[in-house]
This record gives sequence, structure tokens and C-alpha cells, in this order.
Amino acid sequence: MSVPEKNITIAAREFRFTPEFTANSPKVFMETYGCQMNVSDSEVVVSILKQNGYLYTDKMEEADLILINTCSIRENAEQRVRGRLDIFRLMKKKRPSILIGVIGCMAERLKEKLLEEEKMVDLVVGPDSYRDLHKLVQQAGTGQKAINVLLSREETYADISPVRLDENKISAFVSIMRGCNNMCAYCVVPYTRGGERSRDAQTILRDVRELIELGYKDVTLLGQNVDSYHWMDNSRGDDIDFSRLLALVAQTNSKLRVRFSTSHPKDMNDEVLNVMAKYPNICKCIHLPAQSGSSRILEMMKRGYSRDWYLGRIAAIRRIIPECTITTDIIAGFCSETEDDHQQTLSLLREVKYDFAFMFKYSERPNTFAQRKYPDDIPEKVKSRRLQEIIDLMKELSGESKKLDVGKILEVLAEGTSKKSKNQLFGRTSQNKIVVFPRENYQPGQYVNVLVDDCTSSTLKGKGVKGF
Ligand code: 5AD
Ligand code: SF4
Repeated sequence: MSVPEKNITIAAREFRFTPEFTANSPKVFMETYGCQMNVSDSEVVVSILKQNGYLYTDKMEEADLILINTCSIRENAEQRVRGRLDIFRLMKKKRPSILIGVIGCMAERLKEKLLEEEKMVDLVVGPDSYRDLHKLVQQAGTGQKAINVLLSREETYADISPVRLDENKISAFVSIMRGCNNMCAYCVVPYTRGGERSRDAQTILRDVRELIELGYKDVTLLGQNVDSYHWMDNSRGDDIDFSRLLALVAQTNSKLRVRFSTSHPKDMNDEVLNVMAKYPNICKCIHLPAQSGSSRILEMMKRGYSRDWYLGRIAAIRRIIPECTITTDIIAGFCSETEDDHQQTLSLLREVKYDFAFMFKYSERPNTFAQRKYPDDIPEKVKSRRLQEIIDLMKELSGESKKLDVGKILEVLAEGTSKKSKNQLFGRTSQNKIVVFPRENYQPGQYVNVLVDDCTSSTLKGKGVKGF
């Protein structure tokens, strides 16, 4: 997954005035760190708690239960969570009755250690154990150890309708699979989220239809490796792979924008690209994490492809969907990375001309293949310098990609008020580029044709035009 760890405090909604709840119903406050999958999981967790009579609150001070949905992907993601736990602990000192729970990837990675070392944590719940939350909260309430970090081969929470907690009510995530079988040498995810399993296609379509009924306009199908989605519906004799699923979701409503994340270069096939080309409402943007431009490093990373293979996939995208933007993830300073390997990464960025990249310094994670087999031998200073060179180049390339749109009229889905001015709206194009334009009489949720007249490296600027 590819959103760098950030804190998403989910706004209270849905819960407040639901009749079955009373003033005495316990209140849960939740913070979410990490990837889009965690955001999606938090919506499942809230749904499960709601079924058990909890109210959601966005005010930490009034919560009876504080949950923190955590990320382990890099050391600094865990540090941030520890910082938040310190604050929650201070609260618990003032109000000892509150329960604090760590859920998600850090819960899975650190298990009992969280209860032992972080004395003020009351419950620890891994990503496959959310159905157990209510029982664990009750257990913790009586002062017992409350932990469930069992990973499952089947759990997909397929039957749970997530409680949509986003602010804008326009774009939403739909999880289509869980876990990962890839075992990239640097990555902790297979250990924290377990093996890959796909979700029943009918429940995915049900979620999508529900979102359409609620007025949502943009869905992102989520999985660690969406290209390996596979569901055998025995009752219908239906064998559904990702390209089929994508077509089925696109067919639910031609006005619904459909996105997906994340693709894996070794598995992304032309059928998926052909489906993308066929349906105008499937957004023309592919996130294809390269990680490195050096075949030697890719092999050490156990990515399952070489630089040439990766470029072959890029050529296929350009051939089948010429207007598609491509974004990526890059790791700087992986074990044994030479200056030449690094130069190859920079040359890959130039060759592909990415629109955007998430860029990271390599962070050694306990028990991964890389941690067990390779020394983390690139000095911090060198990692930082290489990362900065990658960031600088990407700024240039992002700017060039934006300039290509100046003078064009693009269809933009308005998503909300621009941070900089109340008189401006922002939205996204099919290619996932952010566009800012004067609000005039346009409303969030509306498709607006915008004539682009200016840009920065991250944003297009323009004005709504009528009559197109
Ligand atoms: N160190 C740095 N970056 C990492 N990623 C995954 N594991 C690590 C690690 N140990 C990055 C990869 C992945 C993204 C979600 O996070 O680029 O695609
Ligand atoms: Fe998401 Fe967990 Fe990976 Fe973090 S470690 S990016 S939360 S799957």
C-alpha cells in the first residue's frame, strides 16, 4: 500500500443519533495511521463496534475506549504511534477508567510486548481479530490481559458493511483482498497481515452499490496486490480474476469513478489494461511500485522482475492506455546499494516520467528476509542524500507532467473546498491530478469541466467552463 503513514482522525458521524444508542452507550475514539488499507479497516472496526452498541466520538476527551490503528512499515511509523500512546497514557492517568487498545500491524508485530512494555495499553488486537473486539474490551474492563493476534487464512470481513467515516462523502475505499504472499525482502506486511485472501466478489459489488446509493462518486478497490485477486464463485460456476472484477465494478454505474491500488509489476497483465481502456469510468492512473531501477537490487529485494521487465509493463500501459499517468514507490539506500544502482533508479524515473512517487529511505524491519540475511550497510547520510536526489528529480518530473495539461479542458470531480481559499474548490482528474478552480456555483460531488491555465509541480489550476 502506498500512502505514507499519516494520521487520519475520523470524524464522528452516523453514530450520534441512531435510536438504539443511549446516553450510557460506551464511546469509542479512533486514530488511524498507515496505508489506505488501515483506513478501510478502521471503518470495519467501527461497524463491528456499532453492532455491539458503541457510539463513535471524534473527541478523545469523551471516549471510554481509545483505539489506535497502527502501521509497522517503517521504524518512524512506529515511533509516531509510540508518541501518541504517551499522550493517551497521560489521559488515562487522569481518567483511569478509559481503555486503550492498539490494533493493526504494530499489534500483530509486537504482540504481548505491547501489554508488558507499554503498561498503559489494555488491549492488543491484530488485523484478523477485529470480530473479537467487543469480547476483548469486556475482558480488559475486568483487568484481564486482552489480546488476540491470530492471523487467519480466511478472514476478509466480507459480510461487514463498513461504516463510512470519511469527511467528504464523495470518495471511498473498498477492500477486495487482505494479506500478501509476495515476501519482498524488506517488507513486514506478510508478517503483520498474513497470507493473501480474496474477498467474495458479490460482497464487493454490494459495497459498491451501497456507496452509489449513499451518493459516492469515486471508489478505490484496495489490496496489497490487486492483480492477484481471484474468487471462485462455486454456486454460479464463476471464476473472477481482477480484470473481470474491475469490469463488473465499472458496470455498476457509468458515472462512478473506479480506481485501484496497488498493482504489482510482476502480475499486472494486459487484460487489466484492456479493461481500463474499455471503460471510460475506470480512472486512467496506475500506481506501479518500482522500488528500484537496478536489476541487481530488485533481485536482492525479491521483487520477481527486472528493470527490463518493468519497462516492458510501462510500454504496455503506454500502448494500451496512452493517456494513463503512472505513479510509483521508491526505496533509497537498500542494503548494498551502490552509487551506480542509485543512478539507475534516477534514470528509471526519467525514462518512465512518473507523475508522482512515494519515496522512502530503507528502514530495516525485524525478522524480514533482508534483516536476517543482509547488513543494513548504507550510512544514514548517504541514504538521506540519495533520497533527496530522488525527491528533487521527482519534483521536476511531476512539474513536467502537470505542464502537459495546461491548455486542456479536463473533467474534474469536485471533492471539497481548497485549503488555501474558501472561494476555490479542489478536485481530481481521471489521471488523479489535483485541480484547484474558482468555486462559482459548483458544488462538491459535481463533475466540472475545467480549462487548465496554470500549474505547480503538484497542482493544476484553472476555471470551470460550461457547455462541454
Ligand atoms: N523501508 C522503507 N520503505 C518500505 N516500504 C515497504 N517496506 C519498507 C521498508 N522496510 C515501502 C515500499 C512499499 C511502500 C508501501 O512502502 O516502497 O511499496
Ligand atoms: Fe499498511 Fe500495515 Fe503495511 Fe503499514 S505495515 S502500510 S499499516 S499494511
